[in-house]
Amino acid sequence: MSTADHIDATLHRQIRRLYEKNRRTVHGHQYTIPSPDTYPYQWLWDSCFHAITLSHFDVEAAKAELRSLVSAQFRNGMIPHIIYWQPVKSAFPTIRWGKRHTSSITQPPLIAKAVEAIYAVSLDLDFVKEMVPHIHRFNRYFFRHRDPRRSNLIGVINPDESGEDNSPRFDMALGLAAPRHQFVENFSSRLRLVKDWRDARFVVKERMDVHHWVRDVPINCILRDSLAATARMAEAINDTETAIWSYQKYDAMKIAMREQFYQNGLFLSTMGYGDSMKTIPVKTWAVLMPLFAELLTRSEAEKLVRTIFHNKDLFAAPYSVPTVAMNEPSFDPSGDWRGDWWTGTNWRGPVWMGSNWLITQGLLYYGFEAEARAVKASSIALIKKSGFREYYDPLTGEGHGANDFTWGGLVLDMH
Ligand code: GLC
Repeated sequence: MSTADHIDATLHRQIRRLYEKNRRTVHGHQYTIPSPDTYPYQWLWDSCFHAITLSHFDVEAAKAELRSLVSAQFRNGMIPHIIYWQPVKSAFPTIRWGKRHTSSITQPPLIAKAVEAIYAVSLDLDFVKEMVPHIHRFNRYFFRHRDPRRSNLIGVINPDESGEDNSPRFDMALGLAAPRHQFVENFSSRLRLVKDWRDARFVVKERMDVHHWVRDVPINCILRDSLAATARMAEAINDTETAIWSYQKYDAMKIAMREQFYQNGLFLSTMGYGDSMKTIPVKTWAVLMPLFAELLTRSEAEKLVRTIFHNKDLFAAPYSVPTVAMNEPSFDPSGDWRGDWWTGTNWRGPVWMGSNWLITQGLLYYGFEAEARAVKASSIALIKKSGFREYYDPLTGEGHGANDFTWGGLVLDMH
């Protein structure tokens, strides 16, 4: 494996070409599709990754991408995770979400992060002014509608909301006992949740809570980071009210996460409520996310990096960073990959560029520069070896899943 951590002109050009190829404009809305063969619509956290990537070579396209995204915001503040700007034939299955042109669930709120990336290169304060109200409404949506017990931790009602659709973190909540199971089995249990959500008319009620209520670590970490970014931007545009509310929630989330997620040195997601609340013990890359949300003291962070990130039984794979610890029974680096959507293992072990980017950000917050550089070098090596794929086998570096997948562009933003 090569350890070069710089982006050469060829790689830069390939990323620009890929983004041009995947760009779509429909009724004046410009966005980037994650992959032409498999994901031909606009996705929420993908668009944030796209905007962050685009901020490195086409800042106007980055702004257009986010404008299209927020234009689909619901009245209650939620931003749906898929926007179907136009019908397209593809491998992506038809799902009855119960909404007309969008899905009915959400995804991690990385928009504030993307707007900050755009601001850093454009100094366009008008764009910040345009985006902050949308982001603030989205942040508030989570506390109003996804935290019914006012715990300052938010819950997801479907694993897809985490962005890690079939991660083993959700097996217990889905009632899937076998650590290795077919993608189809996992997918159909998630489809049942879509129906339940539709039947509940998109209101978190006791029924939904009991059925599937996971307070997941990464989305809570991303929300906390979003609150900090929102507060900073609100200050810059003299929106004191938004800044104060965001800082208050930012502080409250740290206390709540340390109280409810932190056990024996690891932050772990929980499912259910009150007496029925359980910790989800499976170790995934999510245990590294508290770095991103700055939840750790210096010595806790050092211990995490030393004993978990560098551990050869857990995450120190030939290619960084596996999404499931290698000693977990559910760790499945490539499954019975037969080249189609239904046979991959997706979030059950393979490396994804989105999680790698989040991990490098977290490492850098705490000054772990050598580790961040190593994750960057690994990401570049994977693209050089296997192209722009959806995910990669951490043991062999082979690429799997969708082709011409955009997330590889994030290497431009790994420092
Ligand atoms: C897959 C991924 C999800 C992503 C979507 C579009 O469903 O699990 O994170 O948003 O593809 O790329």
